[in-house]
Amino acid sequence: MNQNLATTLFPEWTTTPPKFLRTINKVIRRRPLRFRLERAVDGRIDMTTIEQRVHLMELLTVVVQYEVAGDVVELGTFEGKTAVLLTRVLQELGSPKKLHVYDAFDVGYFLGEEADVLALLRQNFAGAGARLPEIHKGYFEQTLPAELPETVCFAHLDVGIGPHPDRHKGVMLKCLESIYPRLAPGGICLLMDYNDGSFSDVADGHPGVRQATDEFLLNKPEKAVTLYGGQGAMGYFRKSGMPAPQKAVEREHMAVR
Ligand SMILES: C[S@@+](CC[C@H](N)C(=O)[O-])C[C@H]1O[C@@H](n2cnc3c(N)ncnc32)[C@H](O)[C@@H]1O
Repeated sequence: MNQNLATTLFPEWTTTPPKFLRTINKVIRRRPLRFRLERAVDGRIDMTTIEQRVHLMELLTVVVQYEVAGDVVELGTFEGKTAVLLTRVLQELGSPKKLHVYDAFDVGYFLGEEADVLALLRQNFAGAGARLPEIHKGYFEQTLPAELPETVCFAHLDVGIGPHPDRHKGVMLKCLESIYPRLAPGGICLLMDYNDGSFSDVADGHPGVRQATDEFLLNKPEKAVTLYGGQGAMGYFRKSGMPAPQKAVEREHMAVR
C-alpha cells in the first residue's frame, strides 16, 4: 500500500514544511541541538494527523488481506476526507467491499454554519478519483443500527463535535452498541481520539471516547489498544473469535523470509 496517500490526497495533508522552516531545520537538526520544526496540527481544520491516516490505511489493509467478512463503515464523516482515504485504499487493493458513511452533515466546523457539507463531500470524492460511498444522512439515533450493513469488517468511529465530554461519551456508546454485534470476528473498530495518556505530550481533548470505550468493553473479551497518533490520539480493538485465515498467514511468513 502506497502510504503517500496519507500526505498527498488533499493539499492540506502535505508534510513538506515551507522553505524558511527547512532552512532553520538544516541548522538545528545538527548536534548538539538535534531538533526539527514542523507544522502544528490545527485540530479544528486538519481533523487528522498523518500518523492517524497511516493507521487507517494499514488496519483497513489488514482486514482486507485477512479476508475478514463484511463491509466498511465510517461513523462521523463530515466532508469526507478520511472516507476518501478509506475508499482509495479499497480501490488500490482491488477490494469489492463497500464503504457506508453515517453523519447528520449539519455541522460546518471551519466551513461555517451555511456550508453544504454533503456537496463538499461529493466534490472531495470526485476530486480524488474515489467512488462515492453509500451515504446515510441523519442522526445516529435514527440511522443506527437499522441502516448498518449486516456484517462489518472495519469501522472508523470519529464523532467529536466539540468540548462536551458527556455528550461525546453518549454518542460513542450509541455507536459502539450498534457496531459491536455486527463486527465480524477479526474485524477492527478504529477509535479516533482514544487517549489513555500513553503519550504524555498529547492532550486529551476528547475524554468521552476513552470513557465510553473502556466502559463498553469492560464485560467483553476485547480491550482497546492505544496507537501512536503523532500530535493526535487514536486507538482500536479487534473483535475476537477467529484465527487468521491460512492464506494470509502464509503470505505474511513469505514476506519475512
Ligand atoms: C470530527 S467530524 C468527522 C471528521 C472526518 N472523519 C474526517 O476526518 O474527515 C465528526 C462528525 O460526527 C458527526 N456527528 C457527531 N455526532 C453525531 C450524531 N449524533 N449523529 C450524526 N452525526 C454526528 C458530525 O456531524 C461531524 O461531521
